[in-house]
Amino acid sequence: MSDKKKTTKGAESTAGLLPGLKSEVEQKDYLSKETMAAVAGQTGLTLNSVYGVASFYAYLPVSPVGKNVIKVCSCLPCEMKDVPAVVEGIGREIAIGPGQTTPDGKFTLELVSCMGACDQAPAMMINDKLYGDLTAEKIAGILKSY
Ligand code: FES
Repeated sequence: MSDKKKTTKGAESTAGLLPGLKSEVEQKDYLSKETMAAVAGQTGLTLNSVYGVASFYAYLPVSPVGKNVIKVCSCLPCEMKDVPAVVEGIGREIAIGPGQTTPDGKFTLELVSCMGACDQAPAMMINDKLYGDLTAEKIAGILKSY
């Protein structure tokens, strides 16, 4: 490992890693262990360091995800507007919970941090589309459109 990848306390610098990881996800949908190992080899970082960065960001999945990724905000403003009812509504419709993918690979459900739509709490995104002011009753109609 080169010295310029070390910080003052010997920890590896992961600065600049995000664009490359994001590009890999755009090409391959998620970061497999093999992909992260290749990135580690190219950058001189350890696999643990690459995994640590990737697993921190919700938009860098480290396991296969469904065709449609449902991201439900679980931060306080959304939580106070009954996110659990939204998650339960999703569970009733497609029988998965947070961190799970439907057996047909159509949906993955994730709990994420604030998406910047606090004024529409509770909020979720499906792929790149935002849905706000959610209720459990709205969930079925939204999911049927996918
Ligand atoms: S707290 Fe949920 S979108 Fe901001």
